[in-house]
Amino acid sequence: MSHWLISGCSELLTLLGPVPRRGRALGDLGIIRDGALLVRDDRIVAVGSRRRIEGLREARRAQKLDLGGRVVLPGFVDSHTHLIFPASRADEYEQRISGKTYEAIARSGGGIRSTVAALRRASPAALRETALRRLRGFAAHGTTTLEAKSGYGLDWKNEVKTLVLLQQLHQEQPLDIAATFLGAHVVPPEFRRRRGAFVELLADRWIPAVATAGLAEFCDVFCDRGAFTVAQARRILQAGRACGLVPRIHAAQFARTGAARLAIELQAASADHLEKINADDIRALALSNVVCTLLPGCSFHLGDAQHAPARALIDAGAIVALATDFNPGTSPTLSMPMILSLACAQMRMTPAEAIAAATINPAYSLRQHDRAGSLEVGKYADLAAFDVAGYREIPYYFGMNLCSLTMKRGVVIHSKKP
Ligand code: NIG
Ligand code: FE
Repeated sequence: MSHWLISGCSELLTLLGPVPRRGRALGDLGIIRDGALLVRDDRIVAVGSRRRIEGLREARRAQKLDLGGRVVLPGFVDSHTHLIFPASRADEYEQRISGKTYEAIARSGGGIRSTVAALRRASPAALRETALRRLRGFAAHGTTTLEAKSGYGLDWKNEVKTLVLLQQLHQEQPLDIAATFLGAHVVPPEFRRRRGAFVELLADRWIPAVATAGLAEFCDVFCDRGAFTVAQARRILQAGRACGLVPRIHAAQFARTGAARLAIELQAASADHLEKINADDIRALALSNVVCTLLPGCSFHLGDAQHAPARALIDAGAIVALATDFNPGTSPTLSMPMILSLACAQMRMTPAEAIAAATINPAYSLRQHDRAGSLEVGKYADLAAFDVAGYREIPYYFGMNLCSLTMKRGVVIHSKKP
């Protein structure tokens, strides 16, 4: 049995409180000054003031970890990533800088389709090495749980190659990975003239097979202009729901096609992006339990001034989360601290709201709020310590990684000297 007494937390952000967080409660971080934690094996067994925790009998025989006044928070839960892709698309980045749009590049066969071609050529071993390196990067930036989507295989063999790799990575390295089947990312080239047939193949064959094999928990559709229609997305996500895959939706990134409403209709776990929603959508989302997962890395990387209406969503009472959307086309970052900086400066979220939107709310959207997203007795000892004078400085210092220690399930997986 391993025991840790973790002290020296100048601010311990417990995130104790209602789940999910809406409205004003989003900014409530449950802060304990000069806090401490007692960890037994993978779980938190006590959390409170240093004086109280140090006085516990179990604390005496624990290994001591004094964080020397750092700010400590639950490890970030990154609820939207496309972890498995072979290489960057820096060539398209440069084309966009010279004026070609993301959608125009996609229409001319680049974009997602160029990553699909590359992933089909890549060996599982090479994809695995790249993914492991990235996972160490996530951990180094304070992330302890992430969601990861397939969707760059788009034929049966390569979708399975991706999902099996995710399953192996979940078992072999410390971070928890929740898998999402995104067979409906785009229509693959071999189905270009038979789009309906591809939708039927997904709904009738691939989805049931993925669910039966236990290869994914969630099902996602890129439902947008240039991708799948609302009717197609409904067909696919209902098929997923019927075999136990919980829906998530890429919605309203480029156009308002009705995807946000579909997320509500299907009681999706999450509607992601939402840059193009309107006031009616905001009201409807606020009345639902769909988590609005905002991805400000996309607008930043695409050089698009329009961000999702975070302020209006929060003020209306919607459940808001933040994620990296780590992917080679629209958001090549694995840094949640950078996403927090963008959320604050570009979407006018407060630092406290951004932290809750990066921990407890995404844990709820992944249905892991019983184990992750807050520092409470009984939950995983998943935490990140930052070398800052107060939590506001986490987003304030942008483009810097001030995470100096990450613990996952009671094991230190990243540590750097101040
Ligand atoms: O979330 N919009 C669809 N999927 C990704 C982009 C994937 C890519 O361009 O490779 C996104 O932005
Ligand atoms: Fe995405």
